[in-house]
Amino acid sequence: MRLAGKVAIVTGAASGIGYATAKRFAEEGARVVVADVNVREGNACASQIAAAGGQAIFVETDVGKEPDLRRMVESAFSTYGGLDILHNNAYWAEPGTAIETTIENWQHTLDVTLRAVWLASSLAVPYLRRRGRGVILNTASVHSIVGLPGHAAYQAAKGGVMSLTRALALELAPEIRVVAILPGSIDTLPVRDDPRNRIEEFLANVPMGRIGQPEEIASAAVFLASDEAGYITGTGLVVDGGYTAR
Ligand SMILES: NC(=O)c1ccc[n+]([C@@H]2O[C@H](COP(=O)([O-])OP(=O)(O)OC[C@H]3O[C@@H](n4cnc5c(N)ncnc54)[C@H](O)[C@@H]3O)[C@@H](O)[C@H]2O)c1
Repeated sequence: MRLAGKVAIVTGAASGIGYATAKRFAEEGARVVVADVNVREGNACASQIAAAGGQAIFVETDVGKEPDLRRMVESAFSTYGGLDILHNNAYWAEPGTAIETTIENWQHTLDVTLRAVWLASSLAVPYLRRRGRGVILNTASVHSIVGLPGHAAYQAAKGGVMSLTRALALELAPEIRVVAILPGSIDTLPVRDDPRNRIEEFLANVPMGRIGQPEEIASAAVFLASDEAGYITGTGLVVDGGYTAR
């Protein structure tokens, strides 16, 4: 098992990529703090990990709120005695062009999708340092590096996540590695429910000719979080079926 003995927090773990990653982390031997605003699905994720023989607790967390993030990080320590991996994965976004986006939309998107990555990381660092080493893994996006019309706040936030990954990596090396995953179009609810059906349009530009599965992001997350990626920091792994190679 590639994460045996590790303690991991996964935010946004009630659904999609976070859910798949929390499950894989547990299968690889990690004890997992499942963090999300969605209490019902968050509890279900932790229960399913336990039913499969793994270890997990659910901690209700709104990553936009500082006291929640503090409690989330402290839960890892009080329940499992430490923290080795922080996976900042939760996000919130509402479509809108740069011109149309409201101040409220901009603020909430940036708070949940970018500010939370900084704040959770800041709060986690003292715990990661107690172990002597650790990993901060951020879910960025292909839209950290290429354009997505009509999603200005989301794109700004995800560009920030990638820049913050580099900034933190420089500050925290060599003890703590800071890495990112940049998914392409992945088969999760927000993509499936997109009323404008952007999937067809997107797939026309994906050399692999299909949408990705959350488990394929989880596999990349296990690698980046594990000691096998011991010399990787300050960069991101694009998992997009070749979309950005064009
Ligand atoms: N699905 C894709 O195609 C795709 C592509 C690129 C990047 N991503 C990124 O992957 C990550 C996961 O997305 P997903 O597709 O699995 O979406 P999802 O909607 O399935 O999961 C997002 C989770 O975040 C939680 N969440 C929302 N607001 C929160 C808050 N304030 N506090 C805590 N949790 C909150 C939701 O409850 C949900 O469980 C996001 O960072 C997203 O930007 C996804």
